[in-house]
Amino acid sequence: MDKVLPKNISHVAIIMDGNGRWAKNKNLDRSKGHKKGLDNIIPIVQELIDWKIKHITLFAFSTENNNRPYDEKKHLISLLENALNNIAKKTDENNINLSFIGNLKHLPKKITSKIEKLNEINKNDASNKLIIAWNYSGRTDILEAINKINDKNITEEKFADLLMTKNIPDPDLIIRTGNQIRLSNFMLWQSAYSELYFSTKLWPDFNTKDLNDALNQFMKRKRNYGAV
Ligand code: FPP
Repeated sequence: MDKVLPKNISHVAIIMDGNGRWAKNKNLDRSKGHKKGLDNIIPIVQELIDWKIKHITLFAFSTENNNRPYDEKKHLISLLENALNNIAKKTDENNINLSFIGNLKHLPKKITSKIEKLNEINKNDASNKLIIAWNYSGRTDILEAINKINDKNITEEKFADLLMTKNIPDPDLIIRTGNQIRLSNFMLWQSAYSELYFSTKLWPDFNTKDLNDALNQFMKRKRNYGAV
């Protein structure tokens, strides 16, 4: 059956939190939690695509995550590399364009070249855009934009064009899993009027029913952007 949402929603962003606790609860190494978290991306993204949500952002690695132990960072980078190797066919077949926001300079060249190649797929005619926030910091996003300004009377629209999210609409809905009620430096400018949804579920356990609960809740919210 064709899935149609009653209200327009063009961008859903997800802060995928709780992989480490998921693993700890099962007496497993944190790396197992991240692997399980990665496996959970496909069904959730598929469900969002089925609901015809055009822009999907996943917060996979924050700038602050660089403070984690070397082995954990290395593992996350290797998961990223595997994901990229497996993703090209899927994005192509499903008419998805993949892009990244964040500072990718710390990644090996073989990974950044792969990202650049993947970014070319369906660049201009994608029905869905999947955006991975990697080594991303909302404050850095704003600071870098400020450093690019050469206009004394900059408008909000022009400023938004200097951000890493240029051409991506602000998220309508930001979902955070893992029972933490904060944004953790994610899309600070772009979230000004996003609806926020916090789930107690740890990311590897967050399933399509939980996603549909979040979307249902969004549908019930009245968005008046400060007006009446
Ligand atoms: C937060 O859980 C999750 C992360 C920092 C990494 C998210 C990564 C994935 C879902 C898999 C890799 C994804 C890609 C695209 C390669 P946490 O470790 O902070 O969990 P905790 O709060 O329970 O410790």
